[in-house]
Amino acid sequence: MSLVNKVCSDLKVEFPMIMAPMFLVSNAAMMESGMRSGIMATFPSLNFRHEGELDAILNQLKTSKEKEKLKGNYGINLIVQKTNILYRKHLDICVRHKVPFYITSLGSPKEVVEQAHAYGAKVYCDVTNITHAKKCAALGCDGFIAVGQGAGGHAGPHPFHILIPSLQKNFPHIPIIAAGGIASGTSMLGAIAVGAHGFSIGTRFIASNEAPCGQDYKAAIVQSGMDDIVMTTRISGVPCSIINTPYAQKIGYEQNLFEKLLSKNKSLKKYYKMFTQIKGMKSLEDSVHPGNYKTLWCAGKSVEMIHEIESCETIINTLINEYYEAKQKLQETWI
Ligand SMILES: Cc1cc2nc3c(=O)[nH]c(=O)nc-3n(C[C@H](O)[C@H](O)[C@H](O)COP(=O)(O)O)c2cc1C
Repeated sequence: MSLVNKVCSDLKVEFPMIMAPMFLVSNAAMMESGMRSGIMATFPSLNFRHEGELDAILNQLKTSKEKEKLKGNYGINLIVQKTNILYRKHLDICVRHKVPFYITSLGSPKEVVEQAHAYGAKVYCDVTNITHAKKCAALGCDGFIAVGQGAGGHAGPHPFHILIPSLQKNFPHIPIIAAGGIASGTSMLGAIAVGAHGFSIGTRFIASNEAPCGQDYKAAIVQSGMDDIVMTTRISGVPCSIINTPYAQKIGYEQNLFEKLLSKNKSLKKYYKMFTQIKGMKSLEDSVHPGNYKTLWCAGKSVEMIHEIESCETIINTLINEYYEAKQKLQETWI
C-alpha cells in the first residue's frame, strides 16, 4: 500500500510530498512541522534575504533535524534567474551549509547542479514545458517539478495530466513531482495515475496556523473558489496566479504598452525586469501585512478545495490518509 519510491530515497523522506517554497509565506515553523511529519519542507532563499538570516535558518533546520532525528528533510528554492541579485550569494551560503536538496526556478540550474552534486545533494528543477526540461536534463538535474496550470505563483501553461506523461515519455529515468492544484487525496492519486512520483503543494499551506501571513489572506484562501483565481503579469512580468481582489481588478492583469516595450527593449530589459521584480516583491510584501487594502495575494486554483485553517501537521496527515483512502476506494469501485 505504501508510496515509497525513488523520490523518497532522493529526498530522504518517508512520503514523497514537498511543502512547496512560497515567497513571504514559508517560515521556520512550517519547515519544522513538515520535517516532523516526514515530508520535504522547502523555502525560497529570498524569504531570508537580510544579512545573517539565511545562515541562521539553515543552522536551525540542520540542528532540529539531527537532534530530534526528524523523519522528513529540508531544502531550498533558488531563483536562478540573472535578475536575482542575491542568487550567487545565497548559493554560496547553501553550499557552505551543505543543504541536502534544491529546487531551482526561472533559469539555468547549471551552477546549482555542479555545486550541489559535488557534495551529494539533489537538485530538482521547476519545469513548465519540454524545452526547459531538456535543458535541465542535459545539465544533469535529478528530478523535475512539473508545474502545471492552476498552480499558485508562476503557474505553467499546461495541465499536468498532459505535461507529466510528456515528461515521462521524453525522460523515462527522471522522477517527476506534480505541482499545481493539489489539495486533496484524490488530486494526489490523479497525479500518480498520470505518471508522477510525488507531489509539491503550496496554496494549501497558506491556510495553516504556522503561516506568517495575515488572517485576512488566510480567510481569503478558505473563502475563495477556483473562479476567483486570475493570472497577472503586473507583479513580476511573468504570469502569476493571484486571488482576484478588488485591488487586483483595479490595477488590471497585464502590463501596459510602455511596460511591454521596456521589457522587450534589448538594452533595457534586464534592468526593467529587475525593477519590476523588486517592485512586485514589495507589493506582495505589503499585501501579507494585515490592514493593507492594496492586496495582491498569490494563490492557486486549489483554493476550491480548501475549507479550513489547520496546523501543517494536520494538513499533511489528512492529505496522506486521504491519498490511501482514495486509492482503496478506486480499487474497490473500478477494479
Ligand atoms: C504564495 C506563493 C508563493 C510562491 N513563491 C514561490 C517562490 O518563491 N519560488 C518558487 O519557485 N515557487 C513559488 N511558488 C510556487 C510553489 O512553489 C508551487 O509550485 C505551487 O504553489 C504549487 O501549486 P499549488 O499552489 O496549486 O499547490 C509560490 C506559490 C505561492 C502560492
